[in-house]
Amino acid sequence: MSGSRQARPPAPANRPPLPSQDGRTCVVTGSTSGLGRETALALAQAGAHVVLAARSEEKIEQTRTAITRQVPGARLDSLVADLADLASVRHAAGRAARLGAIDVLVNNAGVMATPRTRTVDGLDLQMATNHFGPFLLTGLLLPQLVASGRGRVVNVSSAMHHLARSAPLGDPRGAHGRYRRWPVYAQTKLANLLMMFELDRRCREAGLPVEALAAHPGYAATHLLSYGQTMRASGPLSSILDATARATAQSATAGALPILMAATADLPGGTFCGPDGFQELRGGPTVVRPSRLARDSSAQRALWELSERTVGLAWP
Ligand SMILES: NC(=O)c1ccc[n+]([C@@H]2O[C@H](COP(=O)([O-])OP(=O)(O)OC[C@H]3O[C@@H](n4cnc5c(N)ncnc54)[C@H](OP(=O)(O)O)[C@@H]3O)[C@@H](O)[C@H]2O)c1
Repeated sequence: MSGSRQARPPAPANRPPLPSQDGRTCVVTGSTSGLGRETALALAQAGAHVVLAARSEEKIEQTRTAITRQVPGARLDSLVADLADLASVRHAAGRAARLGAIDVLVNNAGVMATPRTRTVDGLDLQMATNHFGPFLLTGLLLPQLVASGRGRVVNVSSAMHHLARSAPLGDPRGAHGRYRRWPVYAQTKLANLLMMFELDRRCREAGLPVEALAAHPGYAATHLLSYGQTMRASGPLSSILDATARATAQSATAGALPILMAATADLPGGTFCGPDGFQELRGGPTVVRPSRLARDSSAQRALWELSERTVGLAWP
């Protein structure tokens, strides 16, 4: 952990101040880029002890330096986890024990519309990164979320979940037919909501003090599109796609607002936050409506049971 307590500079003008997060520990996955970095910055700004979770140690250090420059005295920690590798997630969760109680886990990391790729676990890369890895991480961190007395899990979904025609309930390691990268992405974002509702219900039924919420950022200028199309962090095509996103989307700072709302506002479990503008593409944070399929309790339960078998963890 770095830094000592100092007076914090005010939040940037385009981001209203959050409720104080002093004394709270918030884990943010995918904190090295885009929305995750903005979320981590804002939580640090509000006084949280922020755990920068990501797959690259080097990028975590760069992010830590950047946040510390903006928030002198920020309380930052790191957690290396490759969400597309179940062994890496288990290893990370083991190391996370030293963090003690966790108040908020933001499952933000994700990839979008990547080419067909199988992970070391034999899973589709998008499903592994966006759903199975976060499902396992959340399950393994649950005791620490419980220990906080009022833990909160925030799954970062997408308005694109509305495009999913069915829940991803096929054999995740089985032979797949034609791979269509955009429909698969939409299904992973539907999975984020199905998991959120089922987690919230299971915790309530088990009497555990953990609630689950979800958020989506609308359309925000990040590295998501270019990474999915190029599978590279940089390069000429990445630069063009990043510039396109910057020219057409709202800022990552604005996109992070619904995530911050879900992470910090006084809202009940099962709430979904998103932007209030045209087609939820941009705007201020508000409560939005998930698709009918996302609210289908049999799909929620079926995905949960499939996910437990896939990652080898039955919980809560
Ligand atoms: N931007 C939008 O308009 C938009 C819209 C709807 C939903 N979302 C959702 O917002 C979330 C954040 O995306 P973003 O837009 O901020 O994209 P981004 O700039 O590409 O950031 C994605 C983050 O996820 C991390 N990540 C990717 N694969 C990972 C893995 N295997 N293990 C651990 N971390 C991994 C990346 O790490 P590296 O830095 O190492 O690559 C990066 O930190 C995603 O869940 C996405 O689906 C975004």
